[in-house]
Amino acid sequence: MEKSIPLIEIRNLSRGYRDNPTPLFEKLSLSLQPKEFFVLTGHSGTGKTTLVKFLTGKLTPPEKSVFYNAQDISTFTTDDIQILRKRLGIIFQDYQLLEDLTVRENIVYPLHLYELGETIIESKLNQILQKIPLKHLLDKPAKLLSSGEKQRVALARALIHDSEFIIADEPTGNLDRENTQIVADILIQAHKAGNTVFLITHDIHLLNYLKEKHAVKIHIIK
Ligand SMILES: Nc1ncnc2c1ncn2[C@@H]1O[C@H](COP(=O)(O)OP(=O)(O)O)[C@@H](O)[C@H]1O
Ligand SMILES: [Mg+2]
Repeated sequence: MEKSIPLIEIRNLSRGYRDNPTPLFEKLSLSLQPKEFFVLTGHSGTGKTTLVKFLTGKLTPPEKSVFYNAQDISTFTTDDIQILRKRLGIIFQDYQLLEDLTVRENIVYPLHLYELGETIIESKLNQILQKIPLKHLLDKPAKLLSSGEKQRVALARALIHDSEFIIADEPTGNLDRENTQIVADILIQAHKAGNTVFLITHDIHLLNYLKEKHAVKIHIIK
C-alpha cells in the first residue's frame, strides 16, 4: 500500500538557542502519519517543547526541516500559521485555561473562531460532554477546579472543534496516577474516534500505561 503524505515530517532537524551552547536534536528525523498515535519521548531538556513551538508557529523552525502536509513550516506566512492553528488542538502541562471564565466558556472558546450559531455550539458541547464528563462543573470558574479537572477541560477544549490533530505536551506533568490514566484514556478514545495524536511526554507511568492499553508508535529523542 502506498503511504500517504505525512501530516508532520521532521528531516535532519538541529537547532540551537543563542544563549544555550548545546545544540538540540542533532539531526532528528521522524514522520507522523494521519490517524497515527505518535508518542515522542526523551529526557527533560532534549527539545520536545521547542519542537512543539515549531509546530504551532510560536518559533520559526530552521528551513527545510519541519514540514506540515509536505509544506515547509519555515516558509509559512502569518495567515498560513493561523490556518495551521485552526486545525490543531493543543494541550499543555499547565492547562492554559482562562482562569476567570467558566468551564463551559473555556470548552467552547475555540468555536468562536468559526462564527457558529448557539445551537451548533450547544450540540458540540453536548457531544464532547458525553466523552468527557464535566457537566456538573460547567458553571464553575476554571480557577476553582482541581488539576485533574482542569486537564479534562483542556482536553474537551482541544477536541471540541474537530481538529485535524491533537498535540499534547506533557499533559500529565502535574497530575497524579489516577488522573494520568484518565487523560490517557481520553486520548485513546480520541484516537479510536479518528483523531491523529502527537503526544510528548517523559512520564514513564503514562508511557507504560499507553503501551499496555493501545497500539502507539514511540520515538525516543536521545
Ligand atoms: N527561549 C530559550 N532560550 C534559550 N534556551 C532555551 C529556550 N527555550 C528552551 N531552551 C533550552 O533548550 C533546551 C530544550 O528545552 P525544551 O524544548 O523546553 O526541552 P523539553 O521540552 O524536552 O524539556 C533546554 O536546555 C532549555 O533550557
Ligand atoms: Mg517540555
